Amino acid sequence: MRLLSIRLIVFLIVGMTLVSLSFSYYEAWGEKRGLRQDLERRAEILGESLAGNVETGLGKDSLQDLQRMVEHYGNREHLSGLAVYGPQADLLAVTPELASTLATVPSVMSQALRENHGVGAFQRVSGASLHIYALPLHLHDEVIGGLVIVHDAGYIRADGLRIWRQAFLRVLAYVFLIVLITLLIVRWSIAAPIARTALWMRSLRTGQVSSRQHAADLDLFRPLVQEVAAFAESLTQARSAAETEARLRDTGESQWTADRLAVHVRTRLDNGRLFVVSNRQPYVHMWRGKSVEVIVPPSGLVTAIEPVLRACDGTWVAHGNGDADLEMVDEHDRLRVPPEDPHYTLRRVWLNEAEEEGYYYGFANEGIWPLCHIAHTRPIFRAEDWKYYQAVNLKFADALLEEMKDVEKPIVLVQDYHFALLPRLIKEKRPEARVAIFWHIPWPNPEAFDISPWRREVVDGLLGADLIGFHIQSHCNNFLHTVDRVVESRVDWEHFSVRRLDHLTLVRRFPISVDFTDVQEPESAPDSYGERSALFKALGVEATFMGVGVDRVDYTKGILERFLAIERFLDKYSRYQGKFTFVQIGAPSRSHLKRYHDLMVEVEAEAARINGRFQTAKWKPIVFLNRQHNHQEIQRYYRGADVCLVTSLHDGMNLVAKEFVAARHDETGVLILSCFTGAAHELHDALQINPYDIDQTAEAIRTALEMEPEEKKLRMQRMRKTVRERNVYRWAATLIAELCELRMDASDKSTDKPRAGAAARE
Ligand code: G6P
Repeated sequence: MRLLSIRLIVFLIVGMTLVSLSFSYYEAWGEKRGLRQDLERRAEILGESLAGNVETGLGKDSLQDLQRMVEHYGNREHLSGLAVYGPQADLLAVTPELASTLATVPSVMSQALRENHGVGAFQRVSGASLHIYALPLHLHDEVIGGLVIVHDAGYIRADGLRIWRQAFLRVLAYVFLIVLITLLIVRWSIAAPIARTALWMRSLRTGQVSSRQHAADLDLFRPLVQEVAAFAESLTQARSAAETEARLRDTGESQWTADRLAVHVRTRLDNGRLFVVSNRQPYVHMWRGKSVEVIVPPSGLVTAIEPVLRACDGTWVAHGNGDADLEMVDEHDRLRVPPEDPHYTLRRVWLNEAEEEGYYYGFANEGIWPLCHIAHTRPIFRAEDWKYYQAVNLKFADALLEEMKDVEKPIVLVQDYHFALLPRLIKEKRPEARVAIFWHIPWPNPEAFDISPWRREVVDGLLGADLIGFHIQSHCNNFLHTVDRVVESRVDWEHFSVRRLDHLTLVRRFPISVDFTDVQEPESAPDSYGERSALFKALGVEATFMGVGVDRVDYTKGILERFLAIERFLDKYSRYQGKFTFVQIGAPSRSHLKRYHDLMVEVEAEAARINGRFQTAKWKPIVFLNRQHNHQEIQRYYRGADVCLVTSLHDGMNLVAKEFVAARHDETGVLILSCFTGAAHELHDALQINPYDIDQTAEAIRTALEMEPEEKKLRMQRMRKTVRERNVYRWAATLIAELCELRMDASDKSTDKPRAGAAARE
């Protein structure tokens, strides 16, 4: 740093001095030229004006008169004196001070007489700087002598010296300022941030801060900071994976991690390539002003699928719904992701407005979604939507087949109810491909499913798959009953498989989960009480107990029922008025659909109504935050809450319940969980409720708030063990293992025996 400062200072000083000297030289030269021209002009004018008088005097006056005249005029400013010469350059009269100087005739006088016009010159005479101007005198056009005007030109030199002196002082002042400013800039803007960056990097290396915590004032090094943070993140992950592995080896536990999944997938795929299809993409590019922002949609699916694709460099086919998505892809609509550390390919499929309207909003979200969720919202089936659903499934099939073109052993994982027809479309073209579809939402009973006008086509499309996954066994059972009822097939209840048109499909349960290892407790994180107090303060509420709910605002989530239960609880246990506040994080979802739009209005109105009944100046029972929150924000609420309410009317799994459990490192907090969620089949230590039973939920809130700490701890410990062991990596591993071990040979046609090998069962 010292060498840099010295170099900077030397270069700046030399540069500034050269520039300053050049300007001073030019200024002094210009000034000198101006003063000399001015003096020459003044001498000429004076000469012209005196010449007449002297010519007259020379003609008729005596030499004494001439001498008097010379002495009289010779007293002007800067004028050293005058002299009058005769026609033979003989000195006739002279200002006494100049008598000795002009004793010899100046050369300009001789030249003026010879050439008959005025001549001027600067000369140094006896150490003095003079300007001598000589002009001929005439009488009737005849030269009768000459007049010499002598000016003292010393002031011109003095002026030049003054300019150089000022320039010197200016350079001195510049140098002083430059040195000072350079030292300050180097110290404050370079040396200090570098020192802070180094300190931050050391804290990262030693694990004292997380890579997400950037020092606030490292602006100058922002690109560097981002790179180092990404580097530190992978270091932290590698370290934590190594620690987890070591701990697991030590305790003899068998837990799935991202790294274990990666190794597992590479082994199972055996040179096969993996393709994932989903409606939502893992990375969305959006314009923010003139720059493009990458958004990772908060989705359990991305957490689950990404490590798999990373491990085997697969391809993810999804709908490109970001407004900057098109700008980011190559000519084949592909891009490598994750953007900061590319490991697999994202292939974007484009949908026009009518397709999105009919396929996504229409058939998928107004038809299948309410059909499969028994939440008493009537499904809407429109022939037009069905047409688009078919067309978009075909469009995705074409994109996928194009991606699979030169791949010998393709393995396809289709995600969710948006693509019921895709498995058959793929298998028709590539029968040797291994195709699985995971249905993330519930499958209703056959009577409920029966109302769909296209139930046969949907079931037939699904049965194109080799493997169909649901979260829980009852969804598998419902599906098999539905198959039995709507299409011609042979259902094998012993092996949970369906044979239809010489094709065998296995139906299995794979309960999805969260990445338990990812939810690391930041070292600096406050305890539950501290977090709760800080959150209440930020919300402007004074309360003691906090309840939390985190949902997309969807009619299946039972948000209104939850609010009613809170109202009942406060009515029944009035001692909690002024003490218990429920924070509902409600991410707007599918709000383009009237049902969802209306629901948002209803939820807001219901919160306002209940608040209106109970709220005081500093407290209110419900805080409704209707915007998308990021992972970190949600974690704070999970950590701070006394109780988390999951009151879905019907839910495939519900990952909020598992996220809450994973976030509670302090092994406290109580989970109230609807018995109509998939999660309720695993989290037996939650307070399970029927969300339609408002009294029961209200009672559960009281039980949660008054539960003994030991009881809370015991329940949370058991739930954490379940979520830790059955994490999302286990979900992905078992699904892929089951798919990879299916027997795809011709013998399937002659036997109904299931073809699955042992899945990744520990
Ligand atoms: C459910 C579905 C997912 C879907 C998510 C968000 O969890 O199973 O497939 O992505 O809701 O809904 P959205 O319509 O915003 O994708």
